[in-house]
Amino acid sequence: MYKEKIDFFDAQADAPWADAEYDQETEQKIARLLDLLPRREGLSLLEPGCGTGRLTQRLAQAVGPAGTVTALDISPRMAEAAQRRLSGLPNARALAEDLETCATLQPGFDAVICHQVFPHFNDPARALARMAELLKPGGVVIVSHFIGRHEVNDVHRKAGTAVEQDMLPDAPAMRSLFHEAGFEVTLLEDLPDLYLLRAGLVRDA
Ligand SMILES: C[S@@+](CC[C@H](N)C(=O)[O-])C[C@H]1O[C@@H](n2cnc3c(N)ncnc32)[C@H](O)[C@@H]1O
Repeated sequence: MYKEKIDFFDAQADAPWADAEYDQETEQKIARLLDLLPRREGLSLLEPGCGTGRLTQRLAQAVGPAGTVTALDISPRMAEAAQRRLSGLPNARALAEDLETCATLQPGFDAVICHQVFPHFNDPARALARMAELLKPGGVVIVSHFIGRHEVNDVHRKAGTAVEQDMLPDAPAMRSLFHEAGFEVTLLEDLPDLYLLRAGLVRDA
């Protein structure tokens, strides 16, 4: 289902956008993202589209030893890089799997963090239905990008690659997608350099 994108992202695992260390400005965005979680210590997080695990590492540190982070990536090379980065963090693991069909996941996550991956889901309704199945009642989804929606879509449109049709829907379409999957969007902020959406599960999948 993701063959072309797997090849594309495998070839990107060493690219600066995927692997470079976060700068000071990005650290502030990470702080904003973490503030959207209901709390930090002890949370059980799922992070589809973890890439090389830069955010995964931060999430694992944030939830502490009583919490866990399960990170997924369709690209085996990205997942390997993430697992290497997580080697000193026993509460986090990275699997080369896609969110939609990964069979080893057990329901019971407190939150799903979709960082810079939502536009890449081939069928966002299906991806959201899977998130609803995997979350605890009242669980939370966060969608984040460290650039605004307009720029995300522009970058993909101009890429001329397997991701050129991967668009982040506008606010009404996002609200509708989440509503259909049983979520209520409680925050949607689309700034030129930051996109944040938080939604809570209001009914069982
Ligand atoms: C733009 S990259 C972002 C990576 C990382 N979150 C970051 O910000 O550096 C998107 C990642 O999502 C992965 N991906 C795309 N669709 C996925 C899916 N359905 N399940 C899991 N991973 C997926 C891709 O392989 C890619 O590594």
